[in-house]
Amino acid sequence: SWTMKNYIEEEISYIREKVGDRKVLCALSGGVDSSVAAVLVHQAIGDNLTCVFVDHGLLRKNEGDWVEDIFKNKFKINFIRVNAKDRFLGKLAGVSDPERKRKIIGEEFIRLFEEEAKKLGKIDFLVQGTLYPDIIESGTETAAVIKSHHNVGGLPEDMDFHLIEPFKFLFKDEVRAVGTELGLPEEIVWRQPFPGPGLAVRVLGEITEEKLEIVREADAIVRDEIKSAGLDRQIWQYFAVLPGIMSVGVMGDERTYAHTVGIRAITSSDAMTADWARIPFEVLEKMSRRIVNEVEGVNRIVYDITSKPPSTVEWE
Ligand code: XMP
Repeated sequence: SWTMKNYIEEEISYIREKVGDRKVLCALSGGVDSSVAAVLVHQAIGDNLTCVFVDHGLLRKNEGDWVEDIFKNKFKINFIRVNAKDRFLGKLAGVSDPERKRKIIGEEFIRLFEEEAKKLGKIDFLVQGTLYPDIIESGTETAAVIKSHHNVGGLPEDMDFHLIEPFKFLFKDEVRAVGTELGLPEEIVWRQPFPGPGLAVRVLGEITEEKLEIVREADAIVRDEIKSAGLDRQIWQYFAVLPGIMSVGVMGDERTYAHTVGIRAITSSDAMTADWARIPFEVLEKMSRRIVNEVEGVNRIVYDITSKPPSTVEWE
């Protein structure tokens, strides 16, 4: 009978046989699929796997260090972190169109990945965390044209790799079960989806370091409070956005003129449609109070109460 343990064992011996002693590369994002795939492939072929993690400077608070620590120190996987914040922010300077931002990030990501791959010499295989629904959907892609989704899975076509796709026939919940079985921490296995372009699509319009800092700090508080309230598994995605609106407020005896932060939280089963999450008012209040008190440059908080459609999950 089919069990998760059998599946893992079969997949490991299949990968081992297929790869032999050749080299495998994995673009690791720290998301559920690529993380579980990396650990599975590592169990099969050990040091013949190298993971490349491109830190584009658009990650959430402490995310880069956290991902590095798990894969490098806990799992002892060959792990290359590319710190490319300046390169990405340089390319994005002055750009405010959402699709242009996505395109720039996607292209830069591929370029950096290729550069790293070249440094490693001959690589024969590429790991991809493709899921079964990705395969079915790609035939009749409709949602993708609404926004050109950049995903770290989408890698250069002209690179001469064979693919290793261990989850080609699995659904998300099955990948989570594999991850749990392989000993990945809960924080990874139950991670909320995070877009490839990261905080770039949550700072509306032009990106500056100052705006990134505000959204990053506000986002950390949103996540912290959702977790404290025990809502993190019920809510599909929850995060902060920075619309770039300045408004008047008052703090102490002072008039302020500062940023508005939007809180977005949705329930969904696939992100194709979504409903705004009915977060208890007390939780929202706590987030609001904390963000205004703890994040410099913010004096107003709004909660997004639109579903998808007509809105999208992200604001860009
Ligand atoms: P939207 O905003 O289109 O988002 O309703 C649907 C789901 O996709 C995620 N998303 C992205 N993921 N690259 C990604 O890898 C992207 O450019 C991107 N844009 C949106 C979004 O977080 C939600 O889960």
